[in-house]
Amino acid sequence: MLKNKHILISITGGISAYKILSLIRDFKKSGAEVKILATPNALNFVTKLTLQNLSQNNVYIEEFDIKDWKPEHISLSDWADIMLIAPASANTISKIAHGIADNLLTSVVCAFSKKIILAPAMNCNMWRNETIQNNLKILQSRGIEILEPETGFLACGYIGKGRLCAINKIFDAVKEALNYSDILKNKKVVVTAGGTIEDIDPVRYISNYSSGKMGLAIANSAYDMGAEVVLITTKDFECPYKVVKVKSALDMQKAVNEEFESANYIIMASAVADYRVKNYSIQKIKKGNEDTITLELVKNPDILAELCKNKTHQTIVGFCAESENLEHNALTKLERKGCDFLIANDISRKDIGFEVDENEVLILNKNREIKKLDKAPKKIIARKILECISTK
Ligand code: CTP
Repeated sequence: MLKNKHILISITGGISAYKILSLIRDFKKSGAEVKILATPNALNFVTKLTLQNLSQNNVYIEEFDIKDWKPEHISLSDWADIMLIAPASANTISKIAHGIADNLLTSVVCAFSKKIILAPAMNCNMWRNETIQNNLKILQSRGIEILEPETGFLACGYIGKGRLCAINKIFDAVKEALNYSDILKNKKVVVTAGGTIEDIDPVRYISNYSSGKMGLAIANSAYDMGAEVVLITTKDFECPYKVVKVKSALDMQKAVNEEFESANYIIMASAVADYRVKNYSIQKIKKGNEDTITLELVKNPDILAELCKNKTHQTIVGFCAESENLEHNALTKLERKGCDFLIANDISRKDIGFEVDENEVLILNKNREIKKLDKAPKKIIARKILECISTK
């Protein structure tokens, strides 16, 4: 499965370092070549001999333990297809975020231009620490994938969030990242994500439950496939590409139109409010004696339908969230909007769609052909959608 892939596993000093031993075995069994880089502190928890035996390779620890003419941090970063840092301690996370290169691990990170996946593990108070959270955001904004720790019983005796995420999740994330090729190089991909917010007065608004996670996953995958990405969103996301923060449907339309001409792909994964209030109230609307009040709404523009009308060379992809008759409603919507592809998902199911990390979708094309993508993490669904629309 991972034959000929070069995986550099970097271990920092944390009790969950012992869990990485079985991960090394899993990668070896899948045919990957594995090299281990351990900080001196990691060796307080696992031995060099064990790591050497399991990886069937040298274990790299000291920066100046040079075996040939090339500095170790350069030859290791040239060798690896991917770098995994697990467990990643608070100390290493913070050093990487600020470009400190004071040991072999942090020096490799500085020299590494390929994919890095980081799985933090620490005490729950350390995880919540504002500085650590800010440093993680810095890493995300540089394209480093963070596998969030889990909540549970921690080795320090606390119960909380900080436990290294499940080993199979780390394995799957590495395997998934190695699936990527730069098929979207030199292409511009514009993605919209999240529900629009339509103000009623200074304290109230109309919106919806869209978390923006599917759009974010598509934007991240497009970036990993080499595209120039613009994410237009109502949410706060840290990303290694251009993010345009918007609020209402009208804001979103303006932002999309600004990117339209130069885009190759436009993917409307946002949940745009169909209506906005007719008369926004500058002052907070006060409660009166009436038992009911009426808000007058006006229709928002259909951003997707208008893009499809004005398109020249762009491939335009819509999304459709349906709570019943998925296939029938999706086919009708595909025709009504006139887009090249429509991605349909069933929001009546609690295990997929809004807020959750997994999805299951139908991809419809202009010829009314339907392809089903089985339930999988949104990251995998995102890659498959992009592969499908880019090989039309
Ligand atoms: N969309 C849009 N502008 C709108 C409404 C929707 O661009 N004013 C886009 C969404 O981003 C999505 C697609 O159209 O890609 C379908 O959105 P959906 O809410 O499912 O469809 P609607 O046209 O709003 O139809 P309905 O709410 O009746 O199902």
